[in-house]
Amino acid sequence: MREIYSMNYDWKFYDGDIQDRSFDCTHGNVSKNPSWMKSGNNGVAKWGYPDLDWQDIDLPHDFVCERGEFSETASASQGSLVKGIVWYRKTFELKKEDSEKCVTIEFDGIFRNYEVWLNGHLLGMEISGYKSVSYNIDDVCSYEDVNVIAIRVDATDCEGWWYEGGGIYRNVRLVKTSKLHVGQWGTFVKYTVLEESKAEVVCDTTIYNEYDKVMVFDLVTQIINQAGEVVEEIRNINSIKPHSQLVVMNCINMDKTILWDIEDPYLYKLNTLIKKDNEIMDCYETKFGIRTVHFDNETGFYLNGKNIKLKGVCCHEDHAGVGVAVPDALHEYRIKLLKEMGCNAYRTSHNPPTPALLDACDKLGMLVMDETRVMDTSEEYVQQLKTLIKRDRNHPSVILWSLGNEEMNIHGTDVGIRIYKRLIRIAKSLDPTRKTTYAMNCNWYDISEFNESHNFSVEVGGLNYNLMRNFNKYDTLHEKYPEMVLVGTENASTLSTRGLYCEEPSSNDASITFKSSHECIFEKAQRNQIVSGYGEVYPPWGSTPMETWTSVDTRDFMAGVFIWTGFDYRGETIPYRWPFTVSHFGIMDLCGFPKDIYYYYKSWWTNEDTLHIFPHWNWEGKEKELIDVCVFSNMDCVELFLNDKSLGIKEITKAVKATWQVPYEAGTLKAVGYKGEEVIMVKEVKTTKKASKIGITSNKSELLANKNDVCIINIEALDEDGYFVQTSNELLEFSIKGEGKIIGTGNGNPMSHEQDKLLQRKLYHGLCQVIVQSNFQTGDIILTVEGKDFEQTQIQLKSIETNEFKYVGKVSKDIALAKIIGRRDAADGLV
Ligand code: GAL
Repeated sequence: MREIYSMNYDWKFYDGDIQDRSFDCTHGNVSKNPSWMKSGNNGVAKWGYPDLDWQDIDLPHDFVCERGEFSETASASQGSLVKGIVWYRKTFELKKEDSEKCVTIEFDGIFRNYEVWLNGHLLGMEISGYKSVSYNIDDVCSYEDVNVIAIRVDATDCEGWWYEGGGIYRNVRLVKTSKLHVGQWGTFVKYTVLEESKAEVVCDTTIYNEYDKVMVFDLVTQIINQAGEVVEEIRNINSIKPHSQLVVMNCINMDKTILWDIEDPYLYKLNTLIKKDNEIMDCYETKFGIRTVHFDNETGFYLNGKNIKLKGVCCHEDHAGVGVAVPDALHEYRIKLLKEMGCNAYRTSHNPPTPALLDACDKLGMLVMDETRVMDTSEEYVQQLKTLIKRDRNHPSVILWSLGNEEMNIHGTDVGIRIYKRLIRIAKSLDPTRKTTYAMNCNWYDISEFNESHNFSVEVGGLNYNLMRNFNKYDTLHEKYPEMVLVGTENASTLSTRGLYCEEPSSNDASITFKSSHECIFEKAQRNQIVSGYGEVYPPWGSTPMETWTSVDTRDFMAGVFIWTGFDYRGETIPYRWPFTVSHFGIMDLCGFPKDIYYYYKSWWTNEDTLHIFPHWNWEGKEKELIDVCVFSNMDCVELFLNDKSLGIKEITKAVKATWQVPYEAGTLKAVGYKGEEVIMVKEVKTTKKASKIGITSNKSELLANKNDVCIINIEALDEDGYFVQTSNELLEFSIKGEGKIIGTGNGNPMSHEQDKLLQRKLYHGLCQVIVQSNFQTGDIILTVEGKDFEQTQIQLKSIETNEFKYVGKVSKDIALAKIIGRRDAADGLV
């Protein structure tokens, strides 16, 4: 039977490179020869290499974030954090009976440029930090003995222009199967949805036989519903030659199909059983969902026959406190936040995502545009694309493959089109069920020449941005190429900071050139280094939320849009450089705290009544000065009151942000939202007293005791009457007792140089965040928050039992000791 273990625990970590150049072949010292000279010779990767004083860590691990070494000379696009070369080691045991099995180690991603060694043998080398890889270790592992895996990671160079972190930042698994088994990503479930909720499911299964003999076996394919019942089953007898692979195609008719949808993301499980003499040799599980997807050149996007607009965001994967080492439960938290905003589509810009992210999208009902890193046809990049498609093609959430983003060196050229055509062919050969796109920028100047001269059409035309906010270009393009399906693959790039309000630089005038616009922003930046929260600033290629959304919403032929970006991310600090370290593009900040523009999207992307008023009302010293007070809402109109005096009613539309200029006077600002004559909602902002209390909320009260689950604890500054104090930036300290650990903190401040791993954090505009992880024991977890002038506050959580979880634990002392005694030579240096 198949056994899957998490390999995320008990690693050793060395922050630096290890190179021993002191070898001398001629005069002995053979054990110090460089690793490439003899098989099984990498010293750092051998049992007994002295790693006792290396740091103990668990995965996922982003050493760049953990170090937290900010430097003005480090790359600003990588968040001004110092990178480098590091080593990881982990020892583990295999049992005697494992020699009858196939043993594989699977990595979801290591950033980047790394070598993986097992017991001194090289398993492989990879340059990409985004590719999933797996290594079979049958030839080089030891049974009933200690094995050691060692990984050298060189994160010095980047692959993108955003923060990419470094280290083993995604999950690792040890997989043991029978020698007759389903291959990794060895199933592909395709289907046709027929009338009356019937579906025809076709599954291709790739089976490997690692035995030295022909194997005859039963292949049983079951479809299991969410209640765990087998709803369909098919069996057939097969035979496979020794050391070969076989692809079996099975066709199953389903009578009552429940479709996967964004509102009700119903998932089935395909169980693939390999049986021999009634013994189950392998059981491989594939989660899948049944849904139809269709793009129409006139009317846009359809899911299960229903026309919906793609209300999408582009995202990078990093989060406050943890960098790119995002635990699975945090990915789920982020997808939930996006759903709450009304977002229904996620673009994995600009790289293959971690599988956990797609699992969250499947589970929660989020559509995905799944993107490869670089559009090219070298062996390396083709492999990256193939791996992405083979790995992700069973996820119902994935609706589009993106073959590239803004490849300015080649798009619109003959070379570009040849590359693009070849990648489409590759994508189709692996997945004929989905369309491909390419996210084109440069105001898509080339799309016409590109297509006309090559008699070629992109499957889904991906349009990034609109220079000078000329949204009529959508119409021109649509008129010229009426057959082409169009989607805004990246747009807006609105810059804003949560809770920060000031006058905007006047850089948004369409007549300002690229250069002068930037000069203008930078000039202003030198004076006050501020991107205001009002959400009116954008780079010359960007636009406001209002312009961006209405331009797509009013055009049926536009399938939707992906806003740049759902969350702030480290790096790309446009329009500033040092000391900024985090981007300003997010609709939410690095912690997932909503900025004001969040409420614009929520107003028009959900059916929930929404009314948000900003800024805060603590402007002591600015009495009588005019302050812009704004509202994002989906009410028909909103009336604003200051200290119960009406300041007038404004009509609300998707195209505008309702704004009143209000002379400051301490008290209460009240926004009253009407639909017709009826008052639907009232929201207030008050001049508060000094912050003295701490508000704590957690996204859950119970954590699974698997040292993997996390909860996100959001902390806010309150005054003695319990009102939120957005102007509080005080330092808070955290301590934790019981069965949990703080794995990081954050506050969303784009110029913070605070360390994510310290047990203290300043509030930023009234908010900060602590991420707590369970350990293996069940019991209470108590987080205490305190700060000068604040009442100490606690939150109590529970860590509860889970039995779904298997992991590779530490090597037992006995085995380690036997090894030291038996192999004193190799154990040299071991204390
Ligand atoms: C786009 C690019 C993104 C990001 C964005 C910032 O051109 O595709 O990765 O850099 O600009 O506005």
